[in-house]
Amino acid sequence: MKILTVAGARPNFVKIAPLMHEMRKHPSILPMLVHTGQHYDRAMSDQFFADLEIAPPDVNLGAGSGSHAEQTAQVMQRIEPVLAKLDPDLVLVVGDVNSTLAATLVAAKLQIPVAHVEAGLRSFDRSMPEEINRIVTDALSDLLFVTEESGRQNLMREGINPWKIHFVGNVMIDALEATRPRWERSGIFELLGIEHGRRYAVLTLHRPSNVDDGSTLAGVLAALQKAARRLPILLPVHPRVRQKLSQAGGIVWRDAESREKLPDGGIVCVDPTSYLDFVALMSRATLVMTDSGGVQEESTMLGIPCLTLRTTTERPVTVTQGTNRVIGTSPARIVEEVHAALSRSLDRPEPPPLWDGKASERIVRILLDHFQIGAARAAVA
Ligand code: UD1
Repeated sequence: MKILTVAGARPNFVKIAPLMHEMRKHPSILPMLVHTGQHYDRAMSDQFFADLEIAPPDVNLGAGSGSHAEQTAQVMQRIEPVLAKLDPDLVLVVGDVNSTLAATLVAAKLQIPVAHVEAGLRSFDRSMPEEINRIVTDALSDLLFVTEESGRQNLMREGINPWKIHFVGNVMIDALEATRPRWERSGIFELLGIEHGRRYAVLTLHRPSNVDDGSTLAGVLAALQKAARRLPILLPVHPRVRQKLSQAGGIVWRDAESREKLPDGGIVCVDPTSYLDFVALMSRATLVMTDSGGVQEESTMLGIPCLTLRTTTERPVTVTQGTNRVIGTSPARIVEEVHAALSRSLDRPEPPPLWDGKASERIVRILLDHFQIGAARAAVA
């Protein structure tokens, strides 16, 4: 059984790692990996392969950046001959990035079955490119693996056959748990001058809706600067925001290895950190603020309060059973919520159902069963 996994961007690498490791345990599976090249920097790609011990991809499409149409088209054009040549029994895609959409469209038209991991999540906000990618990918997938109950309900509402849907847990949590012994030993605290017990917040900011419009970004930054009078805010900077932030005033830029003591307040920017260092930083943070999807899940699992700087979340379980609060981007609300979060004491919640580090085991078992049933049917026919 040839399973071709497709990954292109930073969050994809985290999701495929436990799946690739699990597939390799089964001699009846030949796992193959295609990297689309959507993310290509050392910091955004290679470092993730190293941290998560993912074997190098069999093929790198080198698609790179561009507008959404250009990027999607590049991946589609480049993956079509690869799928025709490698002739997989199944294409496995994860998450909601442009590479996921592109690979799914091509595989579906070549009549190769598609399995989508992290299916069914919906923000109900079609101005997010990821929401369009989710809807189309799910509509075309043959097996849909969901991380939370809302995913199953969303898919059923969209008329997806319930037999295709499997609630398996969260592969991102598998990655977090599998690497725990290594991120617990991360050296990032010495490198960033953070003494044990020090209060700080971790911030990620890269959603187009927050960073592409100058006045929205200025409002968010002004609010965060006010909040940063209470505690320093560490911001590993995504490449799409670097230039905009470098023009903004009142921000300190640090070399990631400066070893200089973290200041008592203010926003401190560093280059994007590795996966292990980022999880380590979150695990000891007083507060996490983000517009990312995965960070909402990881902070819930780590029991760290999270303020999501968006008006919606496609991961409602992180609010109902986790540490997440979706607070929008109004500057006054951000300042108010940071103050409230710093004075509130949080009872560590139980992790959401099936977030137990075994999602990839369940997924691979279902894939094996699916193919055995298919083979048995073919033999009888
Ligand atoms: C993509 C995903 C988003 C995910 C994010 C994680 C889509 C629609 N969006 O957004 O869901 O949360 O990745 O990071 O697929 N760049 C570099 N180096 C890199 C990669 C990108 O400099 O290694 C620059 C590009 O040149 C481009 C910008 O970052 O200007 C955006 O990259 P792109 O892949 O288009 O989307 P992201 O914003 O990273």
